[in-house]
Amino acid sequence: MTEKKYSFVIAGGGSTYTPGIILVLLDNLDKFPIRKIMFYDNLASRQKIVADACEILIKERAPEIEFVQTTDPKEAFTDVDFVMAQIRVGLYAMREKDEKIPLKYGVIGQETCGPGGIAYGLRSIPGVIEILDYMEKYSPDAWMLNYSNPAAIVAEATRRLRPNSKIINMCDMPVLIKDRMVEVLGLKSRLELQESYFGLNHFGWWTDLRDRNTGRDLMPELKKWVSEQGYTLPAERDHQGLDQSWMDTFAKSKEVYDIDPNTLPNTYLQYYMYPDDMVKHTDPNYTRANQVIDGREKTVFGMCKRITDRGSSEGEVLELDEHATYIVELARALAYNTNDQMLLIVPNDGAVSNFDETAMVEVPCLVGSNGPCPISQGKIPQFQKGLMEQQVSVEKLAVDALIEHSYQKLWQALTLSRTVPNARVAKQILDDLIEANKDFWPELK
Ligand code: NAD
Ligand code: G6P
Ligand code: MN
Repeated sequence: MTEKKYSFVIAGGGSTYTPGIILVLLDNLDKFPIRKIMFYDNLASRQKIVADACEILIKERAPEIEFVQTTDPKEAFTDVDFVMAQIRVGLYAMREKDEKIPLKYGVIGQETCGPGGIAYGLRSIPGVIEILDYMEKYSPDAWMLNYSNPAAIVAEATRRLRPNSKIINMCDMPVLIKDRMVEVLGLKSRLELQESYFGLNHFGWWTDLRDRNTGRDLMPELKKWVSEQGYTLPAERDHQGLDQSWMDTFAKSKEVYDIDPNTLPNTYLQYYMYPDDMVKHTDPNYTRANQVIDGREKTVFGMCKRITDRGSSEGEVLELDEHATYIVELARALAYNTNDQMLLIVPNDGAVSNFDETAMVEVPCLVGSNGPCPISQGKIPQFQKGLMEQQVSVEKLAVDALIEHSYQKLWQALTLSRTVPNARVAKQILDDLIEANKDFWPELK
């Protein structure tokens, strides 16, 4: 019998993350054979920059793989096994507004947290649903691996609007943190870590980490490290090549850890535990969007243009990125029924036993060809339960607001966010966001 070869479409082909994903796919062909890779985007000019270079990479390393770049949904979504979705509706121009508008009022300006995250959510949902519908129309057996942000709000929307669809929402933040843990512990790979974790996306905690092979409890060593310097690594062991703002985030985890030394926190909790510190350390005229435009986008697109101009990747340093490794591991688990354990965003359904069954939670799951099967995390402590109930309500109200075109519910969502001081400020920010998003949001009543 010949081995099955798989077909992928990357939706949001023009993303800065696309070359990294292609490199990981090309690096794993022995474990995961591929017959076709397609790029789909609704902005041909942006996609072309990335796609022309990736086509060269594919030709160099695996010329037998068919490659297509297209803006035609029918072409893109026909004959695919996996859709990897990484769209950014409104591009960095809108990310910049999501970040800068709340900051005008002294409130966190962030891609996925607080008012900016809510604003992005209302743009992202229709875009993600559109792609899911294309997949179901043209390749009904395919799986969609979605990491388009804000993943928490998008996941709640897909649960509500497309409850039976084969979509898995995911995030790489815990993976990036585990890669740092591995450096501290002197282990070879994060796959050696067995974890217990609960939370919402960008809002979670580890309760246990142990060596998968020996069962050794790793929490004491990890807690000692985080209590001293957060997730900061000694420079010689930090291979993630991160910007200063990310280094500051990893250091800040010390203070997030201090609030509950029984658990180890996700970095994103800094925005909810210390909102005023975060505002104080942000330049309202030069936010993360500006850093990414001047940093990652320039670097990735510059590399792509050089490869295309030369017609070859010779001389380029091509690095596999961990973000992409995780996505390929998930696709492999689905394709080969590996039953690997992964942290995913799934309907709670009792996995956290004292929490809303209808919430989309982030918990470890066993992943096989029938999808993710959440692993029970039992009861969670009052502190986290209280925080999560508030935050999940923000996310649910944001989705309600979009579905019902409700101004009132969106105002409530912003008011309920821990990042917003009061209802008046929530309304001021909301009114500015409505104006900024008028090309994307429905009219709210
Ligand atoms: P990017 O702007 O570089 O790329 C996004 C691409 O999506 C663009 O080429 C854009 O034209 C395209 N696009 C926008 N709307 C579309 C639509 N409706 N249909 C098809 N294509 C569309 O952004 P990026 O910084 O590379 O990030 C891509 C996405 O991945 C973002 O949503 C980001 O938040 C997300 N992300 C998520 C995680 C996670 O942990 N879940 C990690 C990294 C990135
Ligand atoms: C992490 C998070 C993502 C987020 C990204 C932002 O990877 O898990 O959800 O999109 O960080 O990174 P950036 O470098 O674009 O600010
Ligand atoms: Mn994430």
